[in-house]
Amino acid sequence: MSDDTPTPAVRLRDVRLDRGGRTVLDGIDFEAPRGGIVAVLGPSGSGKSTLLAALTGELPPAAGTVEVLGQVVPTRQRELLELRKHVGVLLQGNGLLTDLTAAENVALPLRTHARLPKPVLDRLVAMKLGAVGLHAAANLYPRELSGGMARRVALARALALDPPLMIYDEPLTGLDPIAAGVIMRLIARLNASLGMTSIIVSHHVHETLPISDRAIVIANGGIVFSGTPAELERSEDPLIRQFLAGSPDGPIRFDGALGAEAA
Ligand SMILES: Nc1ncnc2c1ncn2[C@@H]1O[C@H](COP(=O)(O)OP(=O)(O)O)[C@@H](O)[C@H]1O
Ligand SMILES: [Mg+2]
Repeated sequence: MSDDTPTPAVRLRDVRLDRGGRTVLDGIDFEAPRGGIVAVLGPSGSGKSTLLAALTGELPPAAGTVEVLGQVVPTRQRELLELRKHVGVLLQGNGLLTDLTAAENVALPLRTHARLPKPVLDRLVAMKLGAVGLHAAANLYPRELSGGMARRVALARALALDPPLMIYDEPLTGLDPIAAGVIMRLIARLNASLGMTSIIVSHHVHETLPISDRAIVIANGGIVFSGTPAELERSEDPLIRQFLAGSPDGPIRFDGALGAEAA
């Protein structure tokens, strides 16, 4: 790659990630170009959330380098907090605070990271809720929201600081098919209209691929596919076929111990 190419939003080079004294992923090379949507797919337990933990700095790599927005993910807390302002994260579960309204939840990151006069804050919160189609729900509490609405409030909160990079961990979990479709279209629309880069971790292959520009599949401790969604659908690799078909039998090892040799 030449020096005048813009740095990718995310770049991992020969990364190894360990958890609980065990190697979960090894030999990970991966780039997310700016402006696109990348799907990180793989069966449960394959290490998708572990990969995201490396991007947010929660899990430092045991080997290799992890770069986010052109910078090696720092280990020092202060610098890490600074980087995290630029990375919107929607983790599994919504993480909404139950005793705050939708608007107050969305206001949280703005209160934490920016000192704004109340009218400006209110305006920004209204804009973020409007962006996810929930202007009218501002004063509702999480328990008064449907699952899909709650997910959209969490999305508005993740977008509060206008992050250039959004990371989603299983954004469809617990949603019915209609709500899931709404969320996926919203993610695609926001990515385009706000000019962000999005990384979507999901085991919902058939819902995630249509909005993705690129996909990687992780299994057996490493990346087993990297390419476009069309290339993925066409793949004749038995491992990929097994994964796409959701079959328990085949070359993907489930819940087994992954040795360091797995890749
Ligand atoms: N905090 C942890 N401590 C020890 N092992 C963990 C921890 N988190 C995840 N693991 C293990 O790492 C592997 C990958 O988990 P995870 O990244 O959550 O998979 P996925 O998100 O693809 O379902 C699993 O075998 C899981 O048991
Ligand atoms: Mg996970």
